[in-house]
Amino acid sequence: MKTILVTGGAGFIGSHTCVELLNAGYEVVVLDNLINSKEASIDRIKEITGKDAKFYKTDLLDYEDTLKVFSENKIDAVIHFAGLKAVGESVEKPLAYYENNIGGTLNLLKAMKINGCKKIVFSSSATVYGVNNTVPYTEDMPTSATNPYGYTKVMIEQILKDIAFADKEWSVVSLRYFNPIGAHESGLIGENPKGIPNNLVPYIAQVALGKLASLRVFGNDYDTPDGTGVRDYIHVVDLAKGHLAALKYSDANKGFQPINLGTGKGSSVLEVAKAYEKACGKEIPVVITPRRAGDIAWSYADTTLAKKLLGWEAQSGLDKMCADSWNFTVKNPEGI
Ligand code: NAD
Ligand code: UD1
Repeated sequence: MKTILVTGGAGFIGSHTCVELLNAGYEVVVLDNLINSKEASIDRIKEITGKDAKFYKTDLLDYEDTLKVFSENKIDAVIHFAGLKAVGESVEKPLAYYENNIGGTLNLLKAMKINGCKKIVFSSSATVYGVNNTVPYTEDMPTSATNPYGYTKVMIEQILKDIAFADKEWSVVSLRYFNPIGAHESGLIGENPKGIPNNLVPYIAQVALGKLASLRVFGNDYDTPDGTGVRDYIHVVDLAKGHLAALKYSDANKGFQPINLGTGKGSSVLEVAKAYEKACGKEIPVVITPRRAGDIAWSYADTTLAKKLLGWEAQSGLDKMCADSWNFTVKNPEGI
């Protein structure tokens, strides 16, 4: 039985991936410093699957502690989610973002190398397509960024590419996620942002709960069908399953391979608000405000490569994503 180290496994996407890994019969070791999550999500992974993930409350910035996780477990492959992810915060605290995301990744890669573990699936982002490419985004497009968070993804991809070039035994899959939303059907795990959410669906969820008065729609003068921004929303469980497909791919293929994980379909802000209204049975009041700095009109994936290389395709539509988000929100109004 294969043992997978999941860094950031207590977080939103990591916890859903742990569920899929355990259900598929993998042994799972989670490394997380809980800076943006709670240990309760590890208990909930067990509640859903009936299986234990071994948990280390460890910071990737602590190299000795990271090495210990490898010396105490025979790790076959790593799925690397751990990182800070708030775009606005990264602009205010660039040093913290570069240190945590890049420093943590370097420690992880060094620990992997000296333990002979050369398979990694990395959490990249559609943000690496920057502002100069046109949709649908394909993996061969040039990458760039507009903020420190985005640059950490661009830089880590470069580091991984260089490592895979220098040592042909490495297998690196860099998964470029589009906009993950939704939650596990059980309502036990989901997105758990601290404070007022920045991202659209967690914000709408708070409006639906009555904690926030209305949704601020950031601009309705974009060159899109209804003037609001279009994104490729993907169900987090579909996304989690994409990681299992990427692990299988890395068993049979070496080198550096970026792959988009999206649905290939774009939805506007107003379409998402409507779908959420259907899911929660309440009205979501909207207020049109000026555009948010750094936003683009369109973002959606070309999903050809994921289908071809991974045999993977997203299954859930927007209605299911919103229904599962609402189910989690109602069951956990204060988060996990
Ligand atoms: P999350 O914040 O819920 O999970 C990240 C986890 O990493 C958290 O549990 C946090 O405690 C942990 N962590 C952070 N720094 C760490 C460190 N130094 N050592 C150990 N643990 C650490 O975020 P998520 O939404 O699950 O995202 C997971 C990954 O996917 C991130 O790398 C993120 O940048 C990337 N990503 C997320 C999205 C999204 O919309 N959620 C989109 C594209 C890419
Ligand atoms: C954001 C990040 C991106 C990151 C992605 C991960 C920014 C600028 N970009 O992308 O780097 O990879 O999350 O999921 O933060 N919207 C509103 N009102 C709100 C919130 C959002 O109208 O209160 C709109 C936005 O303008 C956008 C859409 O909803 O058109 C989606 O926004 P969001 O969920 O923040 O995701 P992205 O901006 O795509």
